[in-house]
Amino acid sequence: MSRITRAAVVESGGAPFALADVELDTPGPHEAVVRMVAAGLCHTDLTVASGGPPFPLPGVLGHEGAGVVEAVGPAVTGVAPGDHVVLSFTSCGACRNCRGGHPAYCASWLPLNLLGGRRADGTGTVHRDGAPLGGHFFGQSSFAERALADERSLVKVDADIPLEMLAPLGCGVQTGVGAVWNVLRPATGSTVVVLGAGAVGLSAVMAAALTPATHIVAVDRVAERLALAKELGATHTVDAADADLGAALAEITRGQGADGVVETTGSAAVLRRGVDALAARGTLVVVGAPPFGTEVALDVNGLLAGKRIVGLTLGDAETQTFIPALVRLVKEGRLPVHRLISTYPFAEIDQAVRDMRAGKAIKPVLTF
Ligand SMILES: NC(=O)c1ccc[n+]([C@@H]2O[C@H](COP(=O)([O-])OP(=O)(O)OC[C@H]3O[C@@H](n4cnc5c(N)ncnc54)[C@H](O)[C@@H]3O)[C@@H](O)[C@H]2O)c1
Ligand SMILES: [Zn+2]
Ligand SMILES: [Zn+2]
Repeated sequence: MSRITRAAVVESGGAPFALADVELDTPGPHEAVVRMVAAGLCHTDLTVASGGPPFPLPGVLGHEGAGVVEAVGPAVTGVAPGDHVVLSFTSCGACRNCRGGHPAYCASWLPLNLLGGRRADGTGTVHRDGAPLGGHFFGQSSFAERALADERSLVKVDADIPLEMLAPLGCGVQTGVGAVWNVLRPATGSTVVVLGAGAVGLSAVMAAALTPATHIVAVDRVAERLALAKELGATHTVDAADADLGAALAEITRGQGADGVVETTGSAAVLRRGVDALAARGTLVVVGAPPFGTEVALDVNGLLAGKRIVGLTLGDAETQTFIPALVRLVKEGRLPVHRLISTYPFAEIDQAVRDMRAGKAIKPVLTF
């Protein structure tokens, strides 16, 4: 049985999010209908809405949903109607990286999550007036009162935590935390530098504060974000607006350089400074996403001291184990994600987008 629901539709690249009635397809064997309670906004939604990446528009975006399962397809075993779920990315489940516990590097990741707008078999999940819309965004398209979600996008969570606190776990928080826990894995006494103190960077700071790293340096050019970074566990901050980043990091790291750097600004120039700031055998994790085709120049000889540069998708997390661990830390107050969140009623999605673009809201979360 198909369902009519209200969704935020982007008509074409650069158009606003406009609420409209759409038709959700009948759940397939491995799909579920989720009544959305909250959905976070991420810069990737804005990039796709601007028409940059080739996602089929008109379409429905949203990839940090959280809600309650309303109906499940016949082969779904992991969740049942009434369960609270956090929605994250999907994956094929069968390729080498999926089987190896790294579904963010699924062989079908881009078409299934970011660019395809359809199920793997090419069918659409959302229609309007009989014509398919771009949907299946991260297996969810959660800017809608109800979403048809892939089973592999669903993570069952405790029902006693407000879902608006959990929505950002599906992308931004998982990515920042995963950069530190899954890639850097800081050794005792090490230095972690986080470039950019937005939703992803502040999540990396909170994650680093739960490791034996002793120097946690947050870098931004917005003073309020640096102040928040300190409250969330940064031991040092650098305001890139009025400091020489290289000199400041050299001083804080006592001339040794950083053991780990998480780059979230999406600036090629900042990335380059981050690589230069690495200690011997240090690792820089590339998280920030500049426009497609962006290149960066590196000092090749500078890399010979065992430096590593690693790209990252969604924290390289295995969502079914990673997200419940984050939920537990949120519940215990050890991962205070609420400090990043501003809530907006779903109908005010355009205001949320404007506030995010202006840097007024770190992590806008829509409520339904
Ligand atoms: N790789 C992934 O899987 C993944 C997942 C989520 C988000 N992202 C990307 O990560 C990036 C960060 O996301 P976010 O939600 O934290 O964004 P954000 O805008 O909240 O954070 C970026 C921060 O960088 C700061 N900044 C920008 N330029 C700077 C400069 N030159 N010097 C110092 N600070 C600077 C900004 O002030 C801001 O606080 C985005 O590019 C986003 O698209 C990637
Ligand atoms: Zn995202
Ligand atoms: Zn796969």
